[in-house]
Amino acid sequence: MKIGIIGGTGRMGKGLALRWVLAGHRVTIGSRSLDKANNTVDEIIRRLGNDYRNMLHADTYQRTVADNELIVLSIPYFALKQTLDTIRNYINMNKIILSPIVPLVFKDGKPVLIKNEDLSVAEEVARYLNNENVVSGFHTLPYRRLLRYRKEIQGDIVVFSDNKEAKKTVMDLVKDIPSLRPLDGGGLENSGIIERFTYLLLEVRRINKLGDVTIYFRK
Ligand SMILES: NC(=O)c1ccc[n+]([C@@H]2O[C@H](COP(=O)([O-])OP(=O)(O)OC[C@H]3O[C@@H](n4cnc5c(N)ncnc54)[C@H](OP(=O)(O)O)[C@@H]3O)[C@@H](O)[C@H]2O)c1
Repeated sequence: MKIGIIGGTGRMGKGLALRWVLAGHRVTIGSRSLDKANNTVDEIIRRLGNDYRNMLHADTYQRTVADNELIVLSIPYFALKQTLDTIRNYINMNKIILSPIVPLVFKDGKPVLIKNEDLSVAEEVARYLNNENVVSGFHTLPYRRLLRYRKEIQGDIVVFSDNKEAKKTVMDLVKDIPSLRPLDGGGLENSGIIERFTYLLLEVRRINKLGDVTIYFRK
């Protein structure tokens, strides 16, 4: 699949790019700076080896959206509206938009929620772009686990969307990362719960000095 990662130069974007390239997908690192995107491509290729060079590309936000089938919004929440404004003309109804966005910032190492509205971030994206193919997922997965690509990841990724086909596409992409399990979390209206829950996960982690934690559902 052709995947474009907006903010692919960041921690989460790099981790997802690395894992999906390994799984055989063609990934574009989208950045506001082409130099920064090229540096990220070089960095990932240094880790994976030259065999993967043809699978990884660097581009602007606009071309990343135009050239790919699935677009990941791997950006901070505070930059969301501004970023959507720069790419909205390149998004059509055939493209799937994936939001892993957790609406928080870190102040002195402490996570702070920056959103109190009823709508989830993912619903906001869907409304702002007037697009039904918005999917939400990967909120609870720490980027470091993605970057340690020789290790399998034990964990569940809860995926939300109002579009069944788009949701299935993303759930299949979760399965491409060994050994993550995708779980159907229902529609976008449920996404706000995990977006806020992730804040709690990070606070519990910080207060109890747990290191990287993620979630999985046990019987
Ligand atoms: N880090 C994690 O473990 C993790 C886990 C789950 C979910 N998430 C979510 O994934 C998203 C990305 O997180 P991250 O940790 O990868 O963040 P990050 O390292 O700060 O990277 C975010 C990227 O966003 C782009 N960006 C666009 N507008 C920006 C602006 N105004 N200010 C700063 N950066 C801007 C930048 O790319 P360019 O400069 O190249 O354009 C930057 O590299 C967030 O919404 C976060 O909540 C993160």
